[in-house]
Amino acid sequence: MSTPDWSNLTFSYSKTNTILRTVYKDGAWSPVESLTDDNLKLSAFSGCLHYAIECFEGLKAFRGKDGKVRIFRPEENAKRLRRSAEYLGIEAPSVEMFVDMCKQVVKENIDFLPPYEVTGASMYIRPTLIGTNPQLGVQSSKECTFLMLCAPVGAYVGGALDAVDVVIARNYDRAAPNGSGSFKVGGNYACSLYSLNVAHRLGYKAVLYLDPRTRSHVDEFNSSNFFGIKGNTYVTPESPSILPSITNKSLETVARHLGMEVERRPVPVEELATFEEVGECGTAVVITPVHKLVDKPFLESEEETVYTYGDGKCGPKSLKLYNYIVSIQKGEIEDPFGWITYVE
Ligand code: PLP
Ligand code: COI
Repeated sequence: MSTPDWSNLTFSYSKTNTILRTVYKDGAWSPVESLTDDNLKLSAFSGCLHYAIECFEGLKAFRGKDGKVRIFRPEENAKRLRRSAEYLGIEAPSVEMFVDMCKQVVKENIDFLPPYEVTGASMYIRPTLIGTNPQLGVQSSKECTFLMLCAPVGAYVGGALDAVDVVIARNYDRAAPNGSGSFKVGGNYACSLYSLNVAHRLGYKAVLYLDPRTRSHVDEFNSSNFFGIKGNTYVTPESPSILPSITNKSLETVARHLGMEVERRPVPVEELATFEEVGECGTAVVITPVHKLVDKPFLESEEETVYTYGDGKCGPKSLKLYNYIVSIQKGEIEDPFGWITYVE
């Protein structure tokens, strides 16, 4: 194994020692196998390939200041995967099995866990559940394969805490009003690709979607939740079509703990003009400050309204929240909320 270039990690695929696999068939999960080859053999008729019978999770492990290895809130991801699987009508691992496999994959790939000293680096864990029995008709898969994957990662875009420019897509949605937006299913990401590619070509790092029913309120970004800060208040959208972000919930808790007010409520687009700080939040992006937020009648149009936050650096309130959460993750401060699972 060659040692990863810790200081230049990006959010991208790299091969590690092992991946874990278990298959659900005839009412039971097979014993967890550890595979060194990350190429799978599966039926070309698997439901995941045809009907997107797939859901996944994303969480992170960190090497602490004390040398201990910490995973951030794996039970929450396990519960969310179970919710996504229920939506797809497929079997999912229990919370206990999920957490045990997270620990196992980190242990088996410990050489790929970035050192404590590297800012913004961690091991990203990607639990993945796919329908794998051969099928032709549209129906939930009876057999599923659950994979536990991981890779060392750095910042999702640029460097940690680099501010980004983002754009509202008024003529594209990532989810339908009564659709799958609140579930972490692969299909949602496929549905966001067209608008994301247009935005990338225009020089934006992410797309901000509006509520698909009225397009009058802020929903979320393609791979993260939205938050805004006004005075001492942390504001984040309440909407049935956004993914319930574990990072966002954690930030709300931290904000309250640090004496801020928290409002989770519908956020009208006009309110974007009133925030002092705006950011993306999520496991991959952690907190990514937004510098310019551009609203256009439609993504490809020249006409635009630009909201600018700060001077291109992370705002003070967002930075405080970021530092607090990262300090818990890296064992620099006590975890007052019981969010850490140790890998012994
Ligand atoms: N929203 C979307 C669409 C996402 O893909 C993610 C990433 O998981 C999030 C929000 C943030 O969720 P979490 O904080 O649980 O990673
Ligand atoms: C995560 O933050 O874990 C995600 O799943 C985002 C991913 C789609 C890049």
